[in-house]
Amino acid sequence: MKRWLLPIILTLSVVGLIDAGYLTWEHYQTANIIPCYYNPRLPAFFSDCGKVLNSAYSVLFGVIPLALIGLIHYGILTAVILLAIITGKKFFRYWTMLETTIGALASLYFVYLMVIVIKSFCQFCGLSALISFILFIIAYHYLEYERKGWIIYIGGLIYKNIVKPFFFLIDPETIHIFMAQTGEFLGACPPCRWIIKELLPIDNPRLRQTVAGIKFANPIGLSAGFDYEAWLTQILPIIGFGFETIGTVTNHPYDGNPRPRLGRLPKSKSLMVNKGFKSPGADKIIEKLDNKHFEIPIGISIGRTNGIKNMTQKQSINDIVAAFKKFERSKVQNAYYELNISCPNLYGNISFYPLNNLRDLLAAVGKLRLKKPVFIKMPIEKSDKETLAMLNVISKFRFVTGVIFGNLQKNRQDPALDKQEVKKFRVGNFSGKPTEKRSNQLIKLAYKNYGKRFVIIGCGGIFDVKDAYQKIKLGASLVQLITGMIYQGPALIAQINLELIDLLKKDGLKNIVDAVGIDV
Ligand SMILES: Cc1cc2nc3c(=O)[nH]c(=O)nc-3n(C[C@H](O)[C@H](O)[C@H](O)COP(=O)(O)O)c2cc1C
Repeated sequence: MKRWLLPIILTLSVVGLIDAGYLTWEHYQTANIIPCYYNPRLPAFFSDCGKVLNSAYSVLFGVIPLALIGLIHYGILTAVILLAIITGKKFFRYWTMLETTIGALASLYFVYLMVIVIKSFCQFCGLSALISFILFIIAYHYLEYERKGWIIYIGGLIYKNIVKPFFFLIDPETIHIFMAQTGEFLGACPPCRWIIKELLPIDNPRLRQTVAGIKFANPIGLSAGFDYEAWLTQILPIIGFGFETIGTVTNHPYDGNPRPRLGRLPKSKSLMVNKGFKSPGADKIIEKLDNKHFEIPIGISIGRTNGIKNMTQKQSINDIVAAFKKFERSKVQNAYYELNISCPNLYGNISFYPLNNLRDLLAAVGKLRLKKPVFIKMPIEKSDKETLAMLNVISKFRFVTGVIFGNLQKNRQDPALDKQEVKKFRVGNFSGKPTEKRSNQLIKLAYKNYGKRFVIIGCGGIFDVKDAYQKIKLGASLVQLITGMIYQGPALIAQINLELIDLLKKDGLKNIVDAVGIDV
């Protein structure tokens, strides 16, 4: 809020208080005629305050005069604005936003009653309504975070109590595709974009940073797997994401593993994933993205085509290289690549975990001299020793900018998984909370040993701002999520960004960069 505005809104609120005080005083007088401004040249509509103030609408439940409610409203508002000025506390700014909104909505209704129902105008009521509208407009413009904070809070409640229980009655893959296609529609609809932009995204200099030469408006990204058909590039920036990974995209199309491909484990705050790189293939994705403009950095996750039986290790490498080549030759304006070496649900005995296999893959991709940074999507099931050995190999390849920790949880015995829930699924691996602990341990390990060499992206089990901040403080420059958004709703992204600003302020940090690795 601009400081010079404070005396203005305070003055307006005091004028509203005096106006409502006068109307209340008039109400309790025996002679109920209010001395309205009278001008014979004006229509009668403007000259009879009494018609409004003596109408049945002027008292609530037949006893409480609206003027008195107005007096209480302006009294509280004046006090709250004063407290906001004196204490600088967020609570009072949130209250101001809420009360000015309620005041404006109520005034809208009262103006409707005067003009349409009673057909007479009371100048004193009109003045009160005008003040309410001006106060709301000022609050709307200058209390942006507080306005969005309320929307995020109410949106979260609606999602968790109404939308999610309904969605969770329906097959998860059906809902996933429905949500993705709805997102694609909204992203292509200019009025919808304008409305969502007013409601959600949080922009703040504290959250901005440049990583690997790429500008990020905030550190929260959508991780690979949700937008595997590139539906969401236009909607994600306006719901608040700082970046997005599309894919995993494979060179050839694959319809996905036999169902079930997705399942829900609400007690474990997790999803069962058995997609096996369901992908329309690199050509289709390129066709969709060619020459498209993106508001946020977009990454393409590349993995080897699944579903081709008897593919050899060498053929897998050639297949991955072919997909990279297609994107490099295209006009897709992606900012980075992810190389997914850790998908657990693939056919065949191909693995890039043995160090020689990893070296062969990286050498082949390295020969492409890619123009954009590459991040390796790492597994979380390997021991510290095995992970360090893999990082050592990866560190030798200069084209690799960073690593992402990490992918899904393979271990069905993980204590974060509810035993009864896991039994429901005979296939697949697990996202969400069961990935969090190991992901955090590996972020810390990588930061300690390779913090200067690699940019680290933290991924796994982020459900709120504390989870995201913890990963950043352990060494992640950026974070990604999917499952948290499915359980908490799409407003989670804006909520994390909003609350991250507070956490940085509380820790005395000027920018998100200053928080990276401070707990290590
Ligand atoms: C439905 C779904 C599909 C996924 N598909 C991929 C994928 O294609 N490529 C990949 O690298 N990771 C994939 N993942 C893993 C996520 O990118 C992420 O690493 C993991 O879910 C942990 O993050 P989360 O707890 O925030 O979901 C998938 C996850 C989910 C939930």
